[in-house]
Amino acid sequence: MHGKTLFVSGGTRGIGKAIVYAFAEKGCNVAFTYATSADTANEMIADIEAKHGVKVRAYKLNILEPLTYQAVYKEFDADFDRLDYFISNAIISGRAVVGGFGPFMRLKPRGLDNIWTATVDAFVVGAQEAAKRMEKTGGGSIISMSSTGNLVYTPNYAGHGTNKAAVETMVKYAAAELGEKGIRVNAVSGGPIDTDALKAFPNYEYVKQEVAARSPLSRMGEAEDLTGACLFLCGEGSSWLTGQTIIIDGGTTFAS
Ligand SMILES: NC(=O)c1ccc[n+]([C@@H]2O[C@H](COP(=O)([O-])OP(=O)(O)OC[C@H]3O[C@@H](n4cnc5c(N)ncnc54)[C@H](OP(=O)(O)O)[C@@H]3O)[C@@H](O)[C@H]2O)c1
Repeated sequence: MHGKTLFVSGGTRGIGKAIVYAFAEKGCNVAFTYATSADTANEMIADIEAKHGVKVRAYKLNILEPLTYQAVYKEFDADFDRLDYFISNAIISGRAVVGGFGPFMRLKPRGLDNIWTATVDAFVVGAQEAAKRMEKTGGGSIISMSSTGNLVYTPNYAGHGTNKAAVETMVKYAAAELGEKGIRVNAVSGGPIDTDALKAFPNYEYVKQEVAARSPLSRMGEAEDLTGACLFLCGEGSSWLTGQTIIIDGGTTFAS
């Protein structure tokens, strides 16, 4: 991946951070976004550039305002001359998901709309801007992170699970139309992964125990467990793979 560039949203924590490091280790230049963690972003840039000798830059982005991606990509253009891979990874939590994260009878349009904006709209705008740049160099690979919460009942997860199902369908539509530009589009769907997003679940300890009990591999997922699929989907080994969702769940979906 020397000389190639990845743009990933939400690179300061959890799965996004693991992706930033995994691609940099392969010699890939990396642009990533943050919402609030500017200090972490700066520490990561210094650490990765020193360790791996690649170019790393970070930009502030709010996925609740997806059109601001356009300004962020202009900043990207000033720093990088090509884009090869885009991963839509950032996710909202906390106050923004009130009414969207909870039992069915407490769901409210506003919280649900926020999750749609941050999941589906942000993927669409981020991927459109990525595709405009990828087509200039003959193609690329676009990935949306997804989760098995659209396959397996997960308490409180109706808003996220429904929107992950929606973004997986949007991935297929994007794949069908961007293939002629040499751009492949796929989703990577994870089972429960031990990150800040999951720690925000009110029943985190129970979920952790249950996942370990249900997984044939007897443990919960770690952020690094999803990076291999992302590297694969951006590499030559997946050159005829598009419009698909790769599930990485420690066996939990079938064994639930
Ligand atoms: N954890 C799981 O169990 C799991 C399983 C499968 C799939 N996934 C998916 O994997 C992706 C990453 O999840 P995660 O668990 O790694 O999340 P996380 O640990 O909560 O990290 C969220 C990232 O998104 C950024 N972010 C938060 N609010 C934002 C906003 N309004 N605008 C832009 N960026 C924002 C954060 O930046 P700051 O640090 O600056 O706030 C952070 O970098 C998500 O798409 C999630 O659905 C998660």
